[in-house]
This record gives sequence, C-alpha cells and structure tokens, in this order.
Amino acid sequence: MKWSRRHILDTDDWSRDEIESVLETTGAMVEVLSRPVRKAPPLRGRTVILFFAEASTRTRVSFELAAKALSADVTNVTASGSSVEKGETLLDTVRTLEALGGDLVVMRHASSGAPYFVAERTSTPVINAGDGAHAHPTQGLLDAYTLRGALGDLDGRRVVIVGDVTHSRVARSDVNTLVPLGARITLSGPPTLMPAAWRCGALPDGVAYEPDLDRALDGADAVIALRLQKERQESGLLPSLREYTRVWGLTGARVARMRPDAPVMHPGPMNEGIEIDAAVAHGTRSLVETQVRNGVAVRMALLYLLAGTPSLEAA
Ligand code: NCD
Repeated sequence: MKWSRRHILDTDDWSRDEIESVLETTGAMVEVLSRPVRKAPPLRGRTVILFFAEASTRTRVSFELAAKALSADVTNVTASGSSVEKGETLLDTVRTLEALGGDLVVMRHASSGAPYFVAERTSTPVINAGDGAHAHPTQGLLDAYTLRGALGDLDGRRVVIVGDVTHSRVARSDVNTLVPLGARITLSGPPTLMPAAWRCGALPDGVAYEPDLDRALDGADAVIALRLQKERQESGLLPSLREYTRVWGLTGARVARMRPDAPVMHPGPMNEGIEIDAAVAHGTRSLVETQVRNGVAVRMALLYLLAGTPSLEAA
C-alpha cells in the first residue's frame, strides 16, 4: 500500500490497510533498533520539531529517540519557557515553528482539536501526540502493535479497557485502532466516567460496556488499565479513591479471571495501588515496558512514512 496521508491526527478515519501498513513498518523499525548501531539515515538533514504544550515525559522522549534513530535533528519547544506562556496564539506559534524550518511537527496540546487547527494552516506534516481528551493515535498504534506481538491475530479477541474512559484519549484511540483489526472491546469503569451515550448503550460496533469489572474480565484476552486522574474525585465524579480501587482496581485475583497468560497493559504514568496493584504492574503478564519500547518503533514508522519512505540502508 502506498502511504498517502500528510498528517497523523487520529485513526478514527483510517482503513484497516493503513493501520496494517504502520504495524508492518514498525516491524522494520524494531529491526533497526536491534542493530548494533541503533540508527538509520532516512531523516538525515531533516528537522523534527517537538512542540509539547502539555506535560509529558515518556511520549516526548519516545518521539525524540525515534527521530534521532532515523538521524533527524530535533528541536524541543515546550510550553513553559516558550511564548505560549506569554499568551502567543496557536497560529502565531505555528508561523514561528514554520519559519524555524521544521520538516515535521509533533505536537501535544491540552485542547482537543489543536493539531487539526495547526494542520489546516501549515504545509508541514503534523503528528498528534495527544490532544485534550480527544485522541492519542500513536498510543493506539503502539498498543495494537504490542497486542499483536502477544496474541497474534486480533480477530475475535476480546480486550477490556478499564478506567476513566470519558477523559481518556488513550481509550478512544485504542478503540479506533483495535476494532478495525478485528478485536472486540469491553469497556469497564464507573458510569460517571463513561461517555453518556456509551453508558446508555449507543456504542460503536465491536464495543460493549460492562460496569462489573469481574464480569468484564471473565475469559478476556487482554486488559488495558487507564490512569485515574485524581482530580476527578474533586470534581465529584468519584466517591473516593479507595472505593474506586476496591471496585475497579486491577488485582492479581481479577487478572486471574482472564485467559491464562492474557497480558496486562497500561499507557503510563501508572498510579500503582489505585488503578493497578504494584504486583500486577510489574508481574509476569505485564507488557508495560514492552509498550514503552514499541512506542519508539511505532513513532519511527510514522516519521518515516510521513517523510516519504526514504531508504533505511546507509548510503
Ligand atoms: C497518556 C496520555 O498522556 O494521554 N500517557 C502517555 O501518553 N504516556 C495517558 C495518561 O496520561 O493517562
């Protein structure tokens, strides 16, 4: 398949072939990362601008490692210390970024839709590294790659996503990426943290809601726990953290309800002891570190595809 997208904003309108293309290219990048010198030349002479206007460590570092493994130059623009703090509008920021001569912009922003706004107004390809509660396409793709690695074909496999689905761009992007690959998703978590339409049964194809986590996990093929944003308790959406942990926390006993060896995933950062027990987070079924490793390869694949698939071999 010839890659034709200019930006990576969300996977909600992607075909299965496009997702497969990224996963296949990711395999090639895993190979690059296993070489004695973990570097290939395709982005030599190009500059990737990382514009992160919201806190992030692992996603930003992951993109930085990905860009450097493809020999790109990397410039970081963070919100604190940049003119975003001085009230510069997003449009001015974009113009400045463009004038700086970046060949690709990776951006994270607290407002849903910000990467769309930028993408419509610049000739530079934009990758969404997370916008508000809307989408986090690179996380969806790395989760798909990780699940494929653990389970093989995802057709008919049932994946549980538990936690604060309403505020989770990860949950949305996981659904948008895993369902086209044939997986079925069972969402679980407090009704107050589930989008109203979904809670009331108007769910997308391939997605179900089961508030009882034990039932959701019975016979499941994998589980993805979401970070609980503690501020939800202050906003009255949760009775107490202890109550949340009792009803929706991922414990060893709950994990044992899934199929034998069914993997446990989490996008990080984890609140150990709240949404996931430390023993589960670091246990034999945990793929959390594999997710982080695969994240670099997936981001390399996307940078490479957007750059027009230059050769991976040294000239
Ligand atoms: C996620 C994010 O920022 O959306 N984390 C990440 O990308 N590593 C999930 C989260 O913050 O809960």
